[in-house]
Amino acid sequence: MNNSLKVVDERTATSYDIPIRDGAIRAMDLRQVKETPDDFGLLTYDPAFLNTASCRSSITYIDGDKGILRYRGYPIEQLAEHCTFLEVAYLLIHGELPTQEQMNEWFYDVSHHTMLHETTKKFLEGFRHDAHPMGMLVSTVAALSTVYPEARDIHDPANRKHQILRLIGKMPTIAAYTYRHSVGFPYVYPDNELGYTENFMNMLWKMVEPKYMANPTIARALDILFILHADHEQNCSTNVMRSVGSSHADPFLSTAAAAAALSGPLHGGANEEVLRMLDVIGSKANVPAYIEKVKAGNFKLMGFGHRVYKNYDPRARIIKWAADQLFQVTGGNAKLDIALELERIALSDEYFIKRKLYPNVDFYSGLMYQAMGFKPEMFTVLFAIPRTAGWLAQWQELVEDPEQKIARPRQIYTGYDARDFVPMTQREITAKVKVKVEH
Ligand SMILES: CC(C)(COP(=O)(O)OP(=O)(O)OC[C@H]1O[C@@H](n2cnc3c(N)ncnc32)[C@H](O)[C@@H]1OP(=O)(O)O)[C@@H](O)C(=O)NCCC(=O)NCCS
Repeated sequence: MNNSLKVVDERTATSYDIPIRDGAIRAMDLRQVKETPDDFGLLTYDPAFLNTASCRSSITYIDGDKGILRYRGYPIEQLAEHCTFLEVAYLLIHGELPTQEQMNEWFYDVSHHTMLHETTKKFLEGFRHDAHPMGMLVSTVAALSTVYPEARDIHDPANRKHQILRLIGKMPTIAAYTYRHSVGFPYVYPDNELGYTENFMNMLWKMVEPKYMANPTIARALDILFILHADHEQNCSTNVMRSVGSSHADPFLSTAAAAAALSGPLHGGANEEVLRMLDVIGSKANVPAYIEKVKAGNFKLMGFGHRVYKNYDPRARIIKWAADQLFQVTGGNAKLDIALELERIALSDEYFIKRKLYPNVDFYSGLMYQAMGFKPEMFTVLFAIPRTAGWLAQWQELVEDPEQKIARPRQIYTGYDARDFVPMTQREITAKVKVKVEH
């Protein structure tokens, strides 16, 4: 069998053999397909990258149809059951699970990079009391670039490792400080005797007690949520991480850009939207009417549907299990009844079945975060903490990949052909520019 694709250009009656490798053709191989010798060559048009692989990656494997998610080959279910988040972060960054000695060293290194420079604290203080924590996080991570100018030397592996430790170490500190800022509480310094997640809880919730002791069930539930959110191959924010990283921007700026992408309601912001949606629905009795409005196309059911999982989201299953454990300690969430009813009706409704719309990871994570005591504004920040490990693993892979260059898509130009300048006195208002801003 010939491992190639035969393409016939009917415009010129020319046939081309395009090699197939790893189930893909190279888009650049289509450039030879020309109508005339001075033609630019054939482009592929793929808005939102629905069918374009932008890299080779050995980090995360997803089979959306079968509902499979693996980090470095290990099924997400096994990692969630047996590992801590920090162990998984090591796996993502280094490619292998750590031995005990490697884990001890990794924990020491990460926990010795949790403090923020005092000037960064002042920077945080400049935000309004009601600033959205995600805006604060994005800006503060970007600001770290000014604190560590040496991070620009992205081609030195030792320097890269240093910045990776800083980012994984400082992310919970920044996240906790955005919360403390919003409630007007003093910042709590990290406690290196505590585990990664327990220390985060310490920085969030310690008041006047001499030593913060995290509830182990809540800490484990949060750690599992961190594991489930640590990476998800080429999603929107990871694509941003790689795209910004491809210009050789430093990892703080690339991570800030990725976090900005994460903040959108169609991506990491979805779990915040799930809670708002449950508020709007208000009661179990209102669920059928709400579903009808979704089916009429008025709005989407937040926490449902996924670009790659068209069977079920394996993370949603684990979350459901973890939520049961958590609710035994925290007590149920009042919105849980509405969520369960929404899920029950949606899963048996033809509209959702036909479109393969299932609950995704965000459907339950918001309810868990709320039961732990987080406000919806904090949810995406909680997503950004673990995803930083995934972004950095992907960034490192990008920097080391000889096939990668600065990301620069092509376009199909749909604008005017060349036209001559018109003096202002002779210009007319066109329909396109009629939008008026009210003052
Ligand atoms: C995740 C998401 C962006 C994926 O989008 P996508 O792969 O581009 O899927 P599409 O928008 O092409 O959806 C296919 C069809 O399902 C419908 N659909 C998708 N998600 C839907 C939802 N949550 N509620 C209702 N209908 C939905 C679309 O309207 C479309 O219907 P149509 O064929 O009649 O036009 C989308 O499902 C969504 O917006 N979900 C809600 C937000 C969310 O939970 N995001 C978190 C992702 S982890």
